Amino acid sequence: MADNLRIALAGLGTVGAGVLRLLAENGDLIAARAGRAIEVVAVSARDRGKDRGVDLSPYAWEDDMTAFAARDDVDVVVELVGGSDGPALALARKALGSGKGLVTANKAMVAHHGLELAKLAEGNGAPLRYEAAVAGGIPVIKGLAEGAAANRIERIYGILNGTSNYILSEMETTGRDFGEVLKDAQALGYAEADPTFDIEGVDAAHKLSILASIAYGTELDFAAVDTSGISKIRAADIAQARALGYVIRLIGLSDCKEEGGERHLFQRVAPYLVPVRHPLAGVDGPTNAVVAEGNHVGRLLFQGAGAGDGPTASAVVADLVDIARGSRMAPFSQPVETLVASTPADPGNRRNRAYVRFTVADRPGVLAEITAAMRDAGVSIESMIQHGHPDDGNEEPVLVALVTHEGPESGVTRALELLEGSPALVEEPLVMRLIG
Ligand SMILES: NC(=O)c1ccc[n+]([C@@H]2O[C@H](COP(=O)([O-])OP(=O)(O)OC[C@H]3O[C@@H](n4cnc5c(N)ncnc54)[C@H](OP(=O)(O)O)[C@@H]3O)[C@@H](O)[C@H]2O)c1
Repeated sequence: MADNLRIALAGLGTVGAGVLRLLAENGDLIAARAGRAIEVVAVSARDRGKDRGVDLSPYAWEDDMTAFAARDDVDVVVELVGGSDGPALALARKALGSGKGLVTANKAMVAHHGLELAKLAEGNGAPLRYEAAVAGGIPVIKGLAEGAAANRIERIYGILNGTSNYILSEMETTGRDFGEVLKDAQALGYAEADPTFDIEGVDAAHKLSILASIAYGTELDFAAVDTSGISKIRAADIAQARALGYVIRLIGLSDCKEEGGERHLFQRVAPYLVPVRHPLAGVDGPTNAVVAEGNHVGRLLFQGAGAGDGPTASAVVADLVDIARGSRMAPFSQPVETLVASTPADPGNRRNRAYVRFTVADRPGVLAEITAAMRDAGVSIESMIQHGHPDDGNEEPVLVALVTHEGPESGVTRALELLEGSPALVEEPLVMRLIG
């Protein structure tokens, strides 16, 4: 057997400790498959004294994790600290800059600095892998970059954030409102103390931008992801969607079209109405799922655990196995200088049906005002439902939800512009598109 692949592990939290446990339990079978053993040489975290439920005594400890880059006994640095910048990025730059391999689960860092790190990796002949950064344990990057490598990928979409999906499924099954379910999710460990990145779509946008780059051969463009989250969804929206035959899911969706020699890249993370019979409608709880459509393979569905110590460690160690086997795949599936810059696609031209929910003052003429704005913007209404109590003297705002016929997105945008500033609207309308 060849020499061991010697690794240093930065970050010993959920994922880092999971990697140590996995290597301890499955070390022999991993060595057999990789052709060499994966040996942990050194570790680092903030607090040396913390009990992590794993024995750290066999490993060297570094207070400063960037010291890994200078160690001659380390081949690959595994970064499991997190954060788009700060110590994780400093470590990544130093490790790759000194020719060491880097494995990371850090989607924020890859989404923001992936191109720079890929250039550094390729320039130094060092492997860079980040399977765990997208959809945790699901081998979706391998699926795209290897299994579907022969295809032109035309569209990719899916459920990329387990926390949001858990909250939406709970709202669906219990009928409770967003705020209550979020509190429970935090108590159960499904949502972090600061859940902003998860519930506002940022985490899913990180992952979507990475997948888009691999799928279409375009340069990463996280800033161009049109991102919205789930915090404005109410139990009434979920009930309404259900009555129409839909469930609500936070979806990351992208496609890429070539026009006039330019690549128009569409990237959006937003809550969508998904037909109950669609494969993504059955994806409940903290599970992730990704659909990729290739021009020869057809529709592929990847599904599994998008987070957690075991699944995420599984993806991290799979990357280490690749490196141990000597895989020379480029970090973004093709050499970084061949990735093409894209133009953000204009969403206004996209055709779809939309669910629009208004919270309105309960008084005469409001429905007429909404329907007039829709008509003037050229939007045709398929159905309209008012939740509440017209004419019963109750002053509480009421919810009015409508579903449009298929049309360009610019129509609904225009209608909402016409309604802007109307005293009838108590809060900003919520728009969710329907996925086919
Ligand atoms: N958790 C998941 O299910 C999951 C899934 C996919 C991807 N990821 C990604 O995996 C990475 C790690 O996530 P995690 O959930 O394992 O995080 P975590 O439990 O919070 O662990 C983070 C670790 O990094 C260490 N650390 C934090 N700041 C540090 C600093 N300034 N210097 C040195 N060490 C520092 C912490 O040290 P102490 O323990 O001493 O405080 C801790 O061991 C993140 O990029 C995350 O996005 C996580």
